[in-house]
Parts: sequence; C-alpha cells; structure tokens
Amino acid sequence: MRQLICAGNWKMHKTANEAAAFVDAFLPLVRAVPDRVEIVLCPPFTALAAVSPKLSAGRVKLGAQDVHWENSGAFTGAVSAPMLREHRVQYVIVGHSERREYFGDTDLTVRLKTAAALAGGLTPIVAVGETLELRDAGNTLAHVTLQTRAALEGLSEADVARVVLAYEPIWAIGTGRSCDPAEANAVMAAMRACVPGLRETPILYGGSVNSENIADYTAQPEIDGGLVGGASLDPKSFAGLCANAASVSR
Ligand code: 13P
Repeated sequence: MRQLICAGNWKMHKTANEAAAFVDAFLPLVRAVPDRVEIVLCPPFTALAAVSPKLSAGRVKLGAQDVHWENSGAFTGAVSAPMLREHRVQYVIVGHSERREYFGDTDLTVRLKTAAALAGGLTPIVAVGETLELRDAGNTLAHVTLQTRAALEGLSEADVARVVLAYEPIWAIGTGRSCDPAEANAVMAAMRACVPGLRETPILYGGSVNSENIADYTAQPEIDGGLVGGASLDPKSFAGLCANAASVSR
C-alpha cells in the first residue's frame, strides 16, 4: 500500500506571521486525520523558521518549494539542501511548472536539484506536466514521461525509491479546470512505467484540487494524494481536504 500524501504548496503567499497563525489553526483540525495521510506544508523560505518549531510533534511535515543543486556558493537568491535541513525540512518541490516557466528551470536543472535533494536527505516532490498546447496535440504522455525520465536520470535504484512524483497539468493549475481523474490516472500509469522502480512511488495529482474533488482522485488506483495550491491556504479548507483524501477505500 503506497503512502497517501497531501502537500500544500503555498507558492508566494503568507508572511512568517501569517504562516505561524495558519499552523496554530491547522494542527487541531488535522488531529483526527488518519495517519495513512502524510500531511506536508510548503511555505515560502522566509516562513520556515517560524513554522518549523510548531511542527516538532511530527504529525505535519515541513517542505520547501525549491532547492539549489550546490550546497553553497555564489548563487545569489538560492537556498541549498543543508540550509533547508537546518530548519528540519523533509520535503522539497522540484521542477514546479512555475519554476520552469518563470525562473528558467530546465530538465537538466530539475535533475540536478532532484539529485541534490536526495543527497541532502530531503524527499524531492518532482513535478511534471504538459501545457494545453501539448495536450491538444495529443502529446501529454510523451512530454510527461520525458520530463519524468529526465528528472530521474542517473539516480541509483535506492534513490529512485525515495522520490515522490507529482503530475500537474499546467492548464489545470489555478484555473478551476481540474483534470478528469481517470485521465490523470492514465497519465500516472505511464509515468510509473517509464522508469524502473516506481511501483511503490507516491504520485500526487495537482491542479485545482479542493476538499470536494480530492476523493475522486485518491479513489483512482495510481493517484496517491494531492499537491495543492489555492485550497491549501486556508486551514479549514486544507484540513478538510486531508480528511477527505482518506475517505475512500483503496
Ligand atoms: P492550484 O491548486 O491552485 O490549482 O495549484 C496547483 C499547484 O500548482 C500546486 O503545486
């Protein structure tokens, strides 16, 4: 049985104070969520120090939204795996489509970041997904499997086994137009098959996930949770989503 994961990607939302207030409200709300759902919060870097001590009980894990591939050096604005580990970060999103679109992340840098996260003791949540143009041209599977293979290229079997994947169709992100769960399931089956060793890998769906539709995704055999943007910003809404993720039998 693969682990269910609900990860909140806050993107560029919440100051340190706002993030701390979220956690204070959120923790009591997720007390009753079954342990088989791993809950992860990925605040901006500047909120990690405020959030981290509040998560020391361990029920909710801390994630970051990006990591550089070097441990230190002349890389203005970047943050490394050891810096994240110091804040007890356990997960890091790598290759989000917004990083690829606005910050120049490529298949190569996504691969370097994935390897650096693993070497630094972090669990990378490697995000892949196609544009609407690629989808309309019938190229979804080719694109998504290419991105997946590129991100994991050169990793040892043991490292591949530590990766989490996320399928986020770009046209579904922040649009309210979520991907049909069966369609997402089929894409994930192709991802799982494109690199050896992904049978037990959690694959999350991302793109307009909310507390109402999450169970439609986790009811699918290949979908192991959600990578959630907008619906993770409100404690009640994200707690409800985490509870509903586990409401289906798998
Ligand atoms: P939304 O849930 O706001 O569509 O964002 C999805 C996403 O990009 C999560 O990484």
